[in-house]
Amino acid sequence: MTIACDRVWRNARLATLDPTLPGLGVIEKGLIAAKDGRLRYVGPDNNANFDGPESIDCEGRWITPGLVDCHTHLVYGGNRADEFEKRLDGVSYEEIARSGGGILSTMRATRAASEAELVEASLPRLDRLLAEGVTTVEIKSGYGLSLDGELKLLRAARALGDCRPVTVSTTLLAAHAVPPEYRANPDAYVGLICDTIIPAAVRLADAVDGFCETIAFSTAQIERVFTSAKAHGLPIKLHAEQLSNQGGAALAARHGAWSADHLEYLDQEGARALQKAGTVAVLLPGAFYFTRETTAPPVALLRQLGIPIALATDCNPGTSPLTSPLLVMNMAATLFRMTVTECLIGFTRAGARALGRSGEIGSLEVGKNCDLAIWEIDQPADLVYRMGFNPLVARVWRGQ
Ligand code: NIG
Ligand code: FE
Repeated sequence: MTIACDRVWRNARLATLDPTLPGLGVIEKGLIAAKDGRLRYVGPDNNANFDGPESIDCEGRWITPGLVDCHTHLVYGGNRADEFEKRLDGVSYEEIARSGGGILSTMRATRAASEAELVEASLPRLDRLLAEGVTTVEIKSGYGLSLDGELKLLRAARALGDCRPVTVSTTLLAAHAVPPEYRANPDAYVGLICDTIIPAAVRLADAVDGFCETIAFSTAQIERVFTSAKAHGLPIKLHAEQLSNQGGAALAARHGAWSADHLEYLDQEGARALQKAGTVAVLLPGAFYFTRETTAPPVALLRQLGIPIALATDCNPGTSPLTSPLLVMNMAATLFRMTVTECLIGFTRAGARALGRSGEIGSLEVGKNCDLAIWEIDQPADLVYRMGFNPLVARVWRGQ
């Protein structure tokens, strides 16, 4: 048999993350062939003929799917080092938020920045993710909190995808905090989101998200946002049960959300709702660690119910100023007791599912995009086990 392709990676050890194979879907002495940016062959290095390709000898290195960071707030202005110091003095995240700091402090810095300035400020953060093998990144708005401000963030996020070889999924998070102009009438801001911002963002956003929390929006308000999103054909996600249990996960599940994210305070009922709806649980150990949260998400329950668990950096200036997926995997293992296999699934095929992209990315399967991370490691556990160590040797995005 002769297989026409553009490029071949030989002599590699593959962690395919193919869901039809057990564990990480390992293939020793594996070979990958790509054509037109897609995977044309993934399997043993047999005697098949590959027609006219560029051939790369991987010398036994490991190849995983390119990593998927499915939850970030990567685009923002300013930073919140001052708040970090306040929190070291004992002030809580909620107290800072209620006194006009937190998300609103980043909103002020973000509103003051132009689209070009936001791109420039965000590129170094994006580059840190790419340096650890990320080939798809989700980027939320949520620091503009006005029509123009939110669209500016979504455009900046899309522009980042034009600056670097990476797939960017954009998410409208206008329902992140109530901006000062609407402080006296939060429901009017929800009206602006539903009637003006969502319709205007249809071509710039791949999904709609919200923050369901006492310091943000109620389930009734989020329900209005979801109803508008769905009327405009946009899929949904939700920041749910991060600081308290509001029933956000059940609400998200009822609306068929792609994911419910954070979930420290998720209960049985919420978990069952996620299971029934096939909604992905996105866990964010960076935010858990950085806010010194003591209630961990119910990983054993999620596992028991077979709910897909994704992991992400949650890169943001307030609760997770973090750009290392490898460190997030280590935190998920040490803080949440997730296994190596679960951690790697979390940053690959479960992350892809949380973005509605299971058909194109997240595992090494014929027909999917040829997005690869090539690692100088002895075994996959090295990616989770070592801290502050980056063994990436190459990153391939759409076959290049
Ligand atoms: O994912 N929870 C809300 N949103 C972010 C924090 C944003 C911020 O503090 O700037 C999060 O933790
Ligand atoms: Fe977040």
